[in-house]
This record gives sequence, structure tokens and C-alpha cells, in this order.
Amino acid sequence: MSSLSNTRPPGPDDQSAAALAHPTVASIRRAAHAMLDAHALAYLEGGAGAERTLRWNEEAFAHYVIRPRVCTGEATVDTSCDLLGTRLAMPIIVAPVGLDRLFHPDGHRAVVQGAAAVGTVAIASSSSGFTLEDVRAASPDGAWAFQVSALGPIGVVERAAQRAAHAGYRALCITVDTPRPGWRERTLEDAAAPSAVELASANYGPADFAERMAGAVGWNWDTVAAVGEAAGIPWLAKGVLTADDARAAVDHGAAAVIVSNHGGRQLDHAPASIDALPEVVAAVDQRVPVLVDGGIRHGSDVLVALALGATAVGIGRPAAWGLTVAGAAGVARVLDILRIEYEIARTLAGGLHVSPRGPSP
Ligand code: FNR
Repeated sequence: MSSLSNTRPPGPDDQSAAALAHPTVASIRRAAHAMLDAHALAYLEGGAGAERTLRWNEEAFAHYVIRPRVCTGEATVDTSCDLLGTRLAMPIIVAPVGLDRLFHPDGHRAVVQGAAAVGTVAIASSSSGFTLEDVRAASPDGAWAFQVSALGPIGVVERAAQRAAHAGYRALCITVDTPRPGWRERTLEDAAAPSAVELASANYGPADFAERMAGAVGWNWDTVAAVGEAAGIPWLAKGVLTADDARAAVDHGAAAVIVSNHGGRQLDHAPASIDALPEVVAAVDQRVPVLVDGGIRHGSDVLVALALGATAVGIGRPAAWGLTVAGAAGVARVLDILRIEYEIARTLAGGLHVSPRGPSP
């Protein structure tokens, strides 16, 4: 696509008002869908193959029930959490979403500002229309981690990782589920699909970009760890779905593991993230924090994830909906709604207790 799809220039006050007009994440989702053109929408909402994993991510939360405890004497709920030494106002962060300027002219700059405005952080995708230094400068508090993919020539990725450390990012997120992009049918069928080179090559120039997309580099845990070590900041392994990979990540030095199937965009038929979480939590055995992303749409989903052992959750598409609707204010609004919803769910649940739902009566 040759032009950015969402280029209206609202001022900050307009954006705050637009964000506050939405009482729910569902309402922000509908508004974003109405604003984006068909190409941007297909890119954002699409998944790989038959989109089974994409659907399962949301549906699988129905596999669990929250077992409420009442009259616990608890007057207030503390929603804050510690993530590798950073105190967050909520156990919710923004997952990396590429092609940021497709959704708003300020892209990741608005994402990190929105996260910081409500006391949390974002992982900035390397597939951005802004350089990692630009994004970090927009909000040093919000731009907590920078994401690179274990894809293409190792030296190219290593250089980006070192730049991120130099720019002051506190952590590096290494996405390990993307040795090549998945088979995304909505994008394949879209002759005017958004161009990643055009919209997201601020960090890797067009030549590096093409070399990375050519794939065919056999990354292993040693090379992933070498990139993390070269950066010299804690690194997180994003895209782990099995106990074996979780153990390998931690054994190789990962400071945290993110259970994720890339929002259903990579391997179709991979398990829903929330279903893979217990296996990973058991394998990691409290050696490092475990995060999870995929299908988080409500505060009760956050509660289920925490009850199953996650330290925090990530949101991908919901943050992009907020970004579309109202830039930084929209991202902040989505996060704040989820925090309030989580606080209510946690109060009503009287703790963090879930169990498998079992067959319906
Ligand atoms: C992503 N995701 C992603 N992940 C990553 O490591 N680097 C990236 O550049 C991107 N880009 C990207 C673009 C779009 C449009 C989407 C929807 C997702 C995956 C993302 O970080 C996260 O794993 C999922 O989005 C989580 O699922 P939900 O919250 O979208 O259901």
C-alpha cells in the first residue's frame, strides 16, 4: 500500500476525548475496525493458515473457571507487579506489533507514551516506521524493551540489539517463533497489502530487510543467547509454547519467557497461548518470570493467566485498536480499562483461583 491508512491529524485533546468516550475494549475494537481500511484491517486481524490458532487464543479462556472466594476480608486489591526490577501499575504490558504507522502517524512513539501514561511499559517492535532511538526518546519509561526476531543474518540482528542497549532499553525481547513469516492468507490474497519495507524499515534499511526476509539462517539457542549476550541487557525469549523450549531458553540465559504463538500469525494449529502456559510455568519452575500473550481481551483473562502462573500478560491487537482510535491516549485507555476490569475481577474472585472448566452440565 503506498499511503498510510490512518493519517488524520487530531490534537492531543481530541485524542483524549476520543479515548475517554469508549467505556470498553470491545467498543474501541469496533471503532478501530470502522476507521481502518480493508488492507490495514486484514494485516492487523489476520492469522496463519485456517486461522485456527488465532481463534483458539480467545476461545481457550473458556477452558477455565475462576473459583471465587467471598468474604475474604480483603478491602483493596493491589494490581501492581514487578517485572525484572521494574515496578508496573498493572500486570499488563504492550506486546510488539509491527507496521505501527499503519495504525497512527505517531506509531510506536504513541504506543510507548500511552503505556507510560498509565504506569506500564511496551515492547517496541523492530518492524517500525521509527528508529529505536526515536521511540526510546518519545518515552524512556514506556520504551522498556526492544524486540528483534531470530530471523536472517545473525550479525544484522546483533547490531540492532546492541543499538537498543546503547539507546537505554532495559531489556531485549528476542522473538524465536519467526524463522520466516507465516502463511497469512488474508495478506496473500490482498494485492494492495501493506508493504513492510515501506512502512517498517527504520531499523533495518531496505538491504538488511531483504536479507532478513530471505530467511534460511538456522538459528539455535546458542545463537539466540549470543545475541542477548552481545546486547548486554536482560533478554526475553518470546514465542515459547512447550516445556522443552522453555527449559532451553532459561538454560541459555533468558531472563524471562513469553508464552506466545505470535497472535496466531505464525504456525496455525499451534496451541492457544493460555493452554500452553501451565506446561511452561511448570518447566520454568520459578527460575524466571513467565509472561503470556494472545487473546487477552478482558480483565478476567488477565486473572486466569496470573492464576495459571504468569507474572504479567501482553496485549497486541487491543493496543493497536487503541492506537488507531486515539494514538497514545487510546493505548492508555485500553490498558486502563483492562486494569480496572482486572481489579474488579480480582476483587470479586477473592484471590487467584482457577480450575479447568470441564464439560458443561
Ligand atoms: C504482531 N506480533 C509481533 N510479534 C513480534 O515479536 N514482532 C512483531 O513485529 C510483531 N508484529 C505483529 C503485528 C501484528 C499486526 C500483530 C497482530 C501481532 C505478535 C504480538 O507481539 C503478540 O504476540 C500478539 O499480537 C498477541 O496476541 P493478541 O493480543 O493480538 O491476541
